[in-house]
Amino acid sequence: MQKLKTISNNLIVSDKATINIDGASYDFPVYRGVEDDVCIDIKTLRGSSGVTTIDRGFKNTASCESKITYLDGEKGVLRYRGYDLDELANKASFLEVAFLLIFGELPTKKELEKFHDDIVDNSIVNDDVKKIVDAFPSSAHPMGVLSSLTSALTAFNPDDVSLDYDRSKEGMYDTIVKVLGKIPILVGWSYRKQNGFPLQYSMKIRNLDYTDMILHLLFKKPNDEYKPNKNLLNVFNKLLILHADHEQNCSTSTVRIVGSSHAGLFPSISAGISALWGPLHGGANQAVLEMLKSIQEDGGNTKKYIRKAKDKQDPFRLMGFGHRVYKNYDPRARIIKDAAHKFLKSLGIDDPLLHIAAELEENALKDKYFIDRKLFPNVDFYSGVIYRAMGIPSNMYTVMFVLGRLPGWIAQWREMRLMNEPIGRPRQLYTGPSARKFKSKK
Ligand code: ACO
Repeated sequence: MQKLKTISNNLIVSDKATINIDGASYDFPVYRGVEDDVCIDIKTLRGSSGVTTIDRGFKNTASCESKITYLDGEKGVLRYRGYDLDELANKASFLEVAFLLIFGELPTKKELEKFHDDIVDNSIVNDDVKKIVDAFPSSAHPMGVLSSLTSALTAFNPDDVSLDYDRSKEGMYDTIVKVLGKIPILVGWSYRKQNGFPLQYSMKIRNLDYTDMILHLLFKKPNDEYKPNKNLLNVFNKLLILHADHEQNCSTSTVRIVGSSHAGLFPSISAGISALWGPLHGGANQAVLEMLKSIQEDGGNTKKYIRKAKDKQDPFRLMGFGHRVYKNYDPRARIIKDAAHKFLKSLGIDDPLLHIAAELEENALKDKYFIDRKLFPNVDFYSGVIYRAMGIPSNMYTVMFVLGRLPGWIAQWREMRLMNEPIGRPRQLYTGPSARKFKSKK
């Protein structure tokens, strides 16, 4: 073991790793993170040996160094900037957590008030964007609408398209508060359009807390004194916090890689929204609810669906189950499950879908297939049941996830730009035809 050496804020060279290829050996530094994660830096492998590595789906590759979120999938631990998720979900407001993720420390009262006011002041969406909304068919999926509108915002905020490194941190701050202000307005639009409610153009309608404001942007009807009850506000605040960041997942990696080309924050977030949409990622919350409904319509036989999930000839998967990094109970799912039971009880709702979900979980957790593969409920397994009780249609669930994930995407994009990360550009193992002469087949 070499003598330990700090090489950047938190990394320590702890040992050397040697790779032998065709009789030659190559040494690489080994880093140890603050939580004892060990990582080999193979940056010089190709330059010294001409060899690359392949890791499909990045199952074993760290794409960056980050100080934002720590998770230990084996132990079921998740922390934002060192704070335990459970504690944040129970004690903090979503905007406080957003500030923490993006800027690294919890805000003072004054900082939080300024952050809130800056978001509200920058929330106005140009009236012309509405023309784009009107062009979408009413059957359009709200995730597609949101991704397109977020990208369209670049046209209305041209200064924010490509922030150069020499631009001030204030420039970056202005773009961040615009994203946090304008995207909830667009989310409100995609819901309100489906329901025929008039659109609201800014958050300046009332002096409300950020989470409360989002609910108003969605649900406030004309001439209606909308006042969400305390339980609804609490559970929504909790859901947003639990979704706020999850280190280098599919959508966050997308945001970082798009941003690494120096595309601005709006287009990077738009790409993140598209990545989140898929049913293997954030789209799972809608897929879970649809799965629970079809099990109910099919007589509620959960064992039949467990059998289908295990059958390799059957494309059916138990949606909301399994995770790339959690090989233990997802800590977010644990909190959401408890919150779902309490919230529904507070509303006096006895939702049969919650019973079906609980039965599926119970059967899966004692089944050898799921035990052997360490498949547990993930964040999406119980969240849809809460959104359903909140009166949100199932095609909006992933859009709600976007609202929660915004601070994480922003924090990761900001970190990537401030650390001057190089453009993301993986290598490949070419397996196509070897060189051949052109001969037309016409
Ligand atoms: N139902 C049945 N079997 C499953 C499931 C599931 N939900 N998830 C994984 N498996 C099985 C696989 O078939 C595979 O079995 P095998 O070893 O016999 O081939 C094994 O478990 C490993 O699964 P992989 O797909 O290789 O794991 P990977 O890490 O690539 O995928 C993923 C993770 C995409 C989340 C997967 O578990 C899945 O499809 N789950 C359902 C969709 C879902 O809930 N996604 C939301 C994730 S949370 C989030 O992104 C916000």
